[in-house]
Amino acid sequence: MSCTIIVGGFFGDEGKGKIVAHVAFKDKPVIISRGGVGPNAGHTVKVGATEYGVRMVPSGFVYKDAKLCIGSGVLVDPRVLKQEVERLNVRGRIFVDKRCGIITEDHIARDKGSVHLSKKIGSTGSGCGPANADRVMRVAPQAKDVPELAEYLLDVPKAIDDELKAGKFVLLEGTQGFGISLYYGTYPFVTSKDTSASQIAADNGVGPTKIDDVIVVFKAYPTRVGEGPFSTEMSADTSDAMGIQEFGTVTHRKRRIGGWDGGMARYSAMINGCTQAAITGIDRIDKSCFGMTEYGKLTKKAKDFVRQAEADIGCPVALISTGPEITQIIDIRDEVS
Ligand code: IMP
Ligand code: MG
Repeated sequence: MSCTIIVGGFFGDEGKGKIVAHVAFKDKPVIISRGGVGPNAGHTVKVGATEYGVRMVPSGFVYKDAKLCIGSGVLVDPRVLKQEVERLNVRGRIFVDKRCGIITEDHIARDKGSVHLSKKIGSTGSGCGPANADRVMRVAPQAKDVPELAEYLLDVPKAIDDELKAGKFVLLEGTQGFGISLYYGTYPFVTSKDTSASQIAADNGVGPTKIDDVIVVFKAYPTRVGEGPFSTEMSADTSDAMGIQEFGTVTHRKRRIGGWDGGMARYSAMINGCTQAAITGIDRIDKSCFGMTEYGKLTKKAKDFVRQAEADIGCPVALISTGPEITQIIDIRDEVS
């Protein structure tokens, strides 16, 4: 049996979706199940020339042989889910845990209408904060209370356990990033739940002793959307001049760009229990590395960056993303572990 968790090490949008997709194609999980907060997450996955943005469906959906699940800790917005299921054509292989909390129109109105959430914190306006508050107050509906979700309902922890017992590989994907964890992030400028690997396991009902690997994804140039401290942030003029511009998948807000933060990477790796690190955006450290698939071909500048990152993180860098497309990756997991 084998179970791997993939989480974000900085402030979200590290490129987890792409790492999940790569690991899925390579290691062939029978189930890809997501944890994390809910539809505030936005993942981008690029396959060939097609770019997909997802908020509810696990970003591993591009690997067609896996069953896709949404763990019980995750908030589900039935409208967003339905629209994605149709657009991505995943009906029949996507399942929702019967206990997932439900986001209603009222939660969205409260999120957008709250000056504290929408202005001070800079929330995504997707209703997650108010829905998690209602869940804690034990008044939020659950997936099993919603007729239009009936066809998707599953006991996700049981389904995962059955596969693990049969010796199969299961992939658990996290959302958001370490820096916006409710417990360990830059409170109060955080999301409405913990985002670390332990939470992703709990979201899916997978006990800690069943986890074999935790891959933490770090972006060479971290980004942050919304408000809150960002110690290595650079001015927009500087990042624009470097040719780095990014926009949020959910809110389309311009992302704030920063430099590598070794201290944060180390702390994040510690709390996540990182066994292998992934670095994304190495082509921003050195443009000539764009699209490379072999470690040996990386330039000295890129290799020096990876070595420094490895020293900071305190565990091997096993995956290096060299561009947005899923085949643009260096996978040295076999060599470093
Ligand atoms: P909320 O999760 O919508 O309440 O937003 C709280 C904070 O977390 C805001 O700064 C959001 O921009 C940020 N946030 C929430 N989800 C994500 C994500 O998936 N990626 C990056 N930032 C996020
Ligand atoms: Mg995102």
